[in-house]
Amino acid sequence: MKISITETDQSRISEVDFNHLQFGRIFSDHMLEMVYKDGQWHEPKIIPYGPIQFTPSMQALHYGQAIFEGMKAYHVDDETLHLFRPKDHHQRLNNSARRLCMPEIDEQIFIEGLEELISLDHQWVPKQHGHALYVRPFMFAAEEYLAAKVSKEYRFYVITSPVAAYYSEGFNPVKLTTSEKFVRAVEGGTGEAKAAGNYAASFLPAQNAQKKGFTQVIWLDAKEKRFIEEVGTMNIFFQIDEKLVTPKLSGSVLPGITRRSVIEIAKNWGTVVEERRVGIDEIIEAHKSGRLKEVFGSGTAAVISPVGVIQHGDETIRLDEEKIGPFAKKMFATITGIQYGKIDDPFGWTHPISLD
Ligand SMILES: Cc1ncc(COP(=O)(O)O)c(C=O)c1O
Repeated sequence: MKISITETDQSRISEVDFNHLQFGRIFSDHMLEMVYKDGQWHEPKIIPYGPIQFTPSMQALHYGQAIFEGMKAYHVDDETLHLFRPKDHHQRLNNSARRLCMPEIDEQIFIEGLEELISLDHQWVPKQHGHALYVRPFMFAAEEYLAAKVSKEYRFYVITSPVAAYYSEGFNPVKLTTSEKFVRAVEGGTGEAKAAGNYAASFLPAQNAQKKGFTQVIWLDAKEKRFIEEVGTMNIFFQIDEKLVTPKLSGSVLPGITRRSVIEIAKNWGTVVEERRVGIDEIIEAHKSGRLKEVFGSGTAAVISPVGVIQHGDETIRLDEEKIGPFAKKMFATITGIQYGKIDDPFGWTHPISLD
């Protein structure tokens, strides 16, 4: 399928202060748009970024068929950009689409769409190390029909946004608390899909946690409220003795691309990695007996995020609240090194975009 391109006649790039980027507030000149109607996707278009039209009866607004992805494009040098594992993001988008009865997107269209869009807006990819162009593909139900039914029409967009390094002033460990009352997802629900509604449902407990001085909720399983699942927009890892332990993908956990990368790198280093059920009690015990060395989150935004505090009921685990541990630090350096093309990528994760 050919991608048609309509370029903006008024670039906004001169208005952007690349030294003070706020996450998710500034959008590049162009976006990709593709419409699904009459049982098929139609010609993808790259058009100037701007408002889109829909009517108040659009189904996504009422019944919530809306999914998204999040990845980054990195400046390598003046001729090359890197996307990180875009095919994995494409696969996850299609998994989310299937769960929400939405149409899948062809891999070639997805990848070529990203390549064209990011090449066209390559000047928006920040050059400073640690900065990147955040890439947000998303899809929503677009039929005008007030009925709780699967929509027959969809729209797919990709918008992009230059973002600063997550940790511009050193690592800032996060403080987590469990929630007694709320859960994020249940097995059989939509937790493993990147569905917009999952986030809407997590805002109230997250807000409650923030009021008590915590950064985020560390989610426990919905049935027994015992087993750790994930955190806000991150998966979570524990270094116990010399092993790396992470909750298995139970069906209610989002399968993070960074999570997968951490596991593959750790195994490559010879570290024993266990993907299994991880009880909050086990972590409290491991901490008490001095076996819990490090805790960190993994996700596209921060890459690796050290955890300083975990509170659960009357128990509080205090790790190093000031800094990142050596394992997490090495993992951060390795993943970002691969992303920015500073070190070799033996895994074939980077997808180069050549600018000629
Ligand atoms: C709920 C949730 N868990 C985990 C992650 C981490 O996933 P990834 O590493 O693919 O960014 C994200 C971010 O996308 C998320 O939203």
